[in-house]
Amino acid sequence: MTAFEIVQWFVYLLASMLFVRGLHDMNAPKTAVKGNHVSIVGMVIAVIMAFVGFFYDSESGSFGQDINWTALVVVLVCVVVGAFLGARLALRTKSTDYPQLVSLFNTVGGGAAALVALNDIMGASDSEVSLVLLITAGLGVIIGSVTFSGSLVAAGKLQRILSGKPAKIPFKTFLTIVNILAIIASFVMLCVQPGCRTMWALVALALSFVYGLLFVFPIGGADMPVVISVLNACTGTAVAMSGLALDNVALIVAGALVGASGMTLSVLMAKAMNRKLSAVLLGGFGGDNEAAAAGDGPEGTMKETTADDVAVQLKYAQRVIFVPGFGLAQAQAQRDLADLGKLLEDKGVEVQYAIHPVAGRMPGHMNVLLAEANVPYEELVDRDDINPQFPQADVALVVGANDVTNPAARKPGTPVSGMPILDVDKAKRVVVIKRGRGTGYAGIQNELYFMDNTQMLFGDAKKELEEITAALKELGD
Ligand code: TAP
Repeated sequence: MTAFEIVQWFVYLLASMLFVRGLHDMNAPKTAVKGNHVSIVGMVIAVIMAFVGFFYDSESGSFGQDINWTALVVVLVCVVVGAFLGARLALRTKSTDYPQLVSLFNTVGGGAAALVALNDIMGASDSEVSLVLLITAGLGVIIGSVTFSGSLVAAGKLQRILSGKPAKIPFKTFLTIVNILAIIASFVMLCVQPGCRTMWALVALALSFVYGLLFVFPIGGADMPVVISVLNACTGTAVAMSGLALDNVALIVAGALVGASGMTLSVLMAKAMNRKLSAVLLGGFGGDNEAAAAGDGPEGTMKETTADDVAVQLKYAQRVIFVPGFGLAQAQAQRDLADLGKLLEDKGVEVQYAIHPVAGRMPGHMNVLLAEANVPYEELVDRDDINPQFPQADVALVVGANDVTNPAARKPGTPVSGMPILDVDKAKRVVVIKRGRGTGYAGIQNELYFMDNTQMLFGDAKKELEEITAALKELGD
């Protein structure tokens, strides 16, 4: 190792340590912003070091010799354009659209990792090719390509450019198994026939691309959180594989961190949604959607109410449970809900917030939203703890939550079947605030809205909460 290579190794190690520190700080809302900044510093250091490495010639051990100026200009243009587009997208995206953004970033990350790994295989001379390089870069190509196509479909579904409903693919299980076997065969051939490595790497790339499509198309909107999390873990793993092939410690550590934390999150999300992770990986879950597609929804009529009437119900209640969902985030009404909660507590009403782990569009979405509105942490009650309390609640006020309250989850044959729900229907009275009669993310109607104890308050969550609060104040003590 030359002096420069030793310095470079230590700088990458420093960057890796900053990634670990940053991730650790992201564990708690209080230190999360600091954690983000620490990780950004690590990434900037790693990028600068990689750039300096461009000017170093490892064969002569000197700087400024044999610089590939065309490659340098291409890299610089890509860095500037990529940074500009990434920053613009991130700054302009509303927090409710972050899952699509994360999916798009996974697409780019997976695609980049696959291309870097492909370049390692194609660019290596016969004397440089080793089994280790073929295994690591081969896995990088496969995982990166699956992530690329899968994340693209996931982003399309989340953005509603593609239908959120599970696509019915004829002979899906058979095709998936054949596809997986073909990917394994191409990987084995890549390793045992280094002379044809370019061809086998391209075959593996194409087959993996198809697997990404087979994997995500059959999955419905309600199950998308687990999918995004798995794809995120795949991006990290593909990057770590590229790092191994390139012998770059910063890439290995950064990729391993994303892979490990993404997989941990996937396991937790799958558990929260009562799904088997193995079934997710085979693209084999999602309920029977023919019932939903055929319109086998609940029968009956929805009973409408007014903000004034809801204010009266709340005033005479002893226990109220708020049930926030995606609509609360969409309306940015978290402060209005917190204000209403405070007002009720001042009047002696007991108030709690029921938190479903996948309510909203990101893990922990409701916790973050309500923390932003300074709702006391002890008033946020997890699903398992709040469910036994619904029968004692005088009013359950559902604000923009839909799928996570749908009693259809308790029956087989629907896209939400088996998903643990909040037992809102067991409250003495239920009031649901939403804008219209539309369905939730899973695309099916909610049985809760047609029940005898449920009343609908149609309108934007922010406006309706403001009106309820104003009416409650007018009612006095
Ligand atoms: P959803 O089922 O998406 O329902 C949200 C409801 O909010 C809709 O029915 C909508 O009805 C209403 N709404 C939208 N904007 C509103 C506004 N401005 N004011 C009042 N209401 C408004 O939400 P959920 O119950 O929170 O369930 C989450 C769903 O998303 C689950 O299916 C979950 O699997 C999926 N998902 C979750 C994640 C994560 S990680 N949490 C990620 C991706 C997908 P109207 O249009 O009639 O107003």
